Amino acid sequence: MTENPSSTPRPVDLRSGEWLDDNRAQWDERVPVHVSSDFYDQSDLLAGDGRLTPVDEAELLRLFPGADGRFDLSGKRVLHLQCHFGADSLRLAQRGAGIVGLDFSMPAVREARRLAAETGLAERSRFVCANLYDARHALPEPDSFDLVFTTWGTIGWLPDVAEWARIVEWFLKPGGILYFTDSHPTAQVFDAAPDGAELPIFTYPYAKAEPDIFDDGADYADETAVLENTRTWEWMHPLSKTFTVLRDAGLTVDRLAEHDALPWRMFPGLVPKGEGMFGWPDQAWLPLAVTIVAIKPAGHLL
Ligand SMILES: C[S@@+](CC[C@H](N)C(=O)[O-])C[C@H]1O[C@@H](n2cnc3c(N)ncnc32)[C@H](O)[C@@H]1O
Repeated sequence: MTENPSSTPRPVDLRSGEWLDDNRAQWDERVPVHVSSDFYDQSDLLAGDGRLTPVDEAELLRLFPGADGRFDLSGKRVLHLQCHFGADSLRLAQRGAGIVGLDFSMPAVREARRLAAETGLAERSRFVCANLYDARHALPEPDSFDLVFTTWGTIGWLPDVAEWARIVEWFLKPGGILYFTDSHPTAQVFDAAPDGAELPIFTYPYAKAEPDIFDDGADYADETAVLENTRTWEWMHPLSKTFTVLRDAGLTVDRLAEHDALPWRMFPGLVPKGEGMFGWPDQAWLPLAVTIVAIKPAGHLL
């Protein structure tokens, strides 16, 4: 492969700048829209029996099998990065975890704290407001989590995935586990065809180092919403890059799994597959989601 000049990223200030202000403004505005949306239905959580997506339930069951055939996080400390308004964090708390959720949106963190109180989980949960890249300062607790959990709409908002991996490693206990599941980067190259055709079309280069800057007031969770903060900055992170930065941060990649469904209609041609998941109508043309499980080595006993 010839060298691609676009693969050398311009350095980004990870702690300030337009990218951060724009993204935060839109996420702040999205919080009330999402809290009251069907997309982020919380009835399971409020009924005391929260369920993650079928992909997350199955993957976490492999890692933390419980006697009742569901995953069990009793006694585990869990850090949920980019926790949004805390619904999944609290679902993890309902399975026994003590959780810390971190998100850069203060409205999201406020809502997470409110939801924790409403569900009776305030004592098992803490929510911290910080930019991911300031997480070590906001939460000075190295080597202290059994599980770092981050799913569905995460690293695409982050300019530097290598620094993300180092932060994950820093928080994990020796022997601790990263659980990452998100849309598959090969699916992220596509977008809906303008002519409404069922199959999406190539739109975003796979290995583009510079961000895509969008100007869009639509919201994926509520098609009636019109957002005022329309500009967002998003990054493509090829799968090989994510794998490599985790390894370079000192983690052992234990599992890489591809899934043919994801919990939103990424393209108009996707069809419901049950339990809130969407997939291709006929052939599994491409994987739509990916899971990476990585472990911080336990070290050697002297
Ligand atoms: C699609 S949502 C993740 C939703 C998640 N699957 C959930 O509901 O638990 C993306 C989240 O990333 C957060 N976020 C984006 N950029 C961030 C950053 N630089 N630091 C911390 N959080 C960030 C947003 O505020 C938003 O809550």
